[in-house]
Amino acid sequence: PLVPVILAGGKGERFWPLSRKRRPKQFLCLDGSDRSLLQSTADRLLHVANGWDNLWVVTASHLAKGVQEQLPELPLANLLVEPEGRDTAPAVAWSTLEIAKRYGESAIVGFFPADHWIDNQEIFEETLAAAVDLAVKEAAIVTLGITCNQAATGYGYIEQGEKIGLYGAAGYPAYRVDRFTEKPDRETAQAFLDSGRFSWNGGMFVFQAKVALKELHRHAPEILTPLEEKGVAAYPTLPRKSIDYALMEKTDRAYVLPVSFGWDDLGDWAAIERLLKNADNPNVELAKHVGLDTKGTLLYSTNDDELIVTIGLEDTVVVRDGKVTLIAKKDRTQEIKTILKTLHTRS
Ligand code: GDD
Ligand code: MG
Repeated sequence: PLVPVILAGGKGERFWPLSRKRRPKQFLCLDGSDRSLLQSTADRLLHVANGWDNLWVVTASHLAKGVQEQLPELPLANLLVEPEGRDTAPAVAWSTLEIAKRYGESAIVGFFPADHWIDNQEIFEETLAAAVDLAVKEAAIVTLGITCNQAATGYGYIEQGEKIGLYGAAGYPAYRVDRFTEKPDRETAQAFLDSGRFSWNGGMFVFQAKVALKELHRHAPEILTPLEEKGVAAYPTLPRKSIDYALMEKTDRAYVLPVSFGWDDLGDWAAIERLLKNADNPNVELAKHVGLDTKGTLLYSTNDDELIVTIGLEDTVVVRDGKVTLIAKKDRTQEIKTILKTLHTRS
């Protein structure tokens, strides 16, 4: 049995104007279904958790109400509310302590980002069963490795070491992690990719509570100790750090299971296009759209009644949300973060 925790406290600014402070990426429907990314994540984990009673969510206080609205079946006792987001290391450490309190230190905990797209449920569940097996037998901190195909700088890179055996009923191979490097620069990422020995970190982690607590004690006492002593009241004093830097780059208990299900972290509008593009339409239309000579364009409106009309448009992103419209060249949507800084200083 695995106790899954959904990490749902992040921002996802690259989807602005859809993503706003109180409506981050995980609350949006971006995969073409009518479920938000958070709801799809919960759907996917419900079976693994054996129902709502064992599914947990950790989020920041300004998002707690939104999580409750989106997941009305989630028991209140399973919603961990951080006074403010301090990145994922405090979220993981605090959740693991709370789960150890409820289920005991032998409990197996899994952490899952709230904003990913995953394709095959059956393979996903088989992989998690293998992760649980591996976590118990090897006292492992299990990572899921995604085949990398470009020198992306927004991911953690996992160097695959020695093969240690086959795990789970489906017999998935697992390997030691020789090195974990979070968000390398472009040059390093390219070298990793060229070597053929690396996979991307899928951002999901599975371990026994006691194993992670021991490792956090050793590598991130500045986060774990205050949480043990004061619980959530420790938050204002905690450093802002992700679990990748705080633990994964340091621990020698990390193992990797290469995954064979489809995965995308839906990081920006280009990812939405990858996911939804089909042969029938030269554009991705998440809005009512009439176009003349328009192609490679992604259109999104939050209002179903709104019509967007385009002529001679190529490789553009058009997003309408109430009083705000974003129009950008498709290959420059990464720069939304830059323009948001300008907008914040103006208002
Ligand atoms: N509760 C809580 N509190 N959740 C948080 C916080 C926080 O302060 N900050 C982020 N999260 C949630 C996000 O909502 C997301 O679901 C998840 O934690 C991961 O955070 P991101 O900020 O999206 O991380 P990342 O994408 O930069 O990097 C991570 O994921 C990559 C794969 O998508 C790392 O684990 C990388 O190594 C990995 O490759
Ligand atoms: Mg992410």
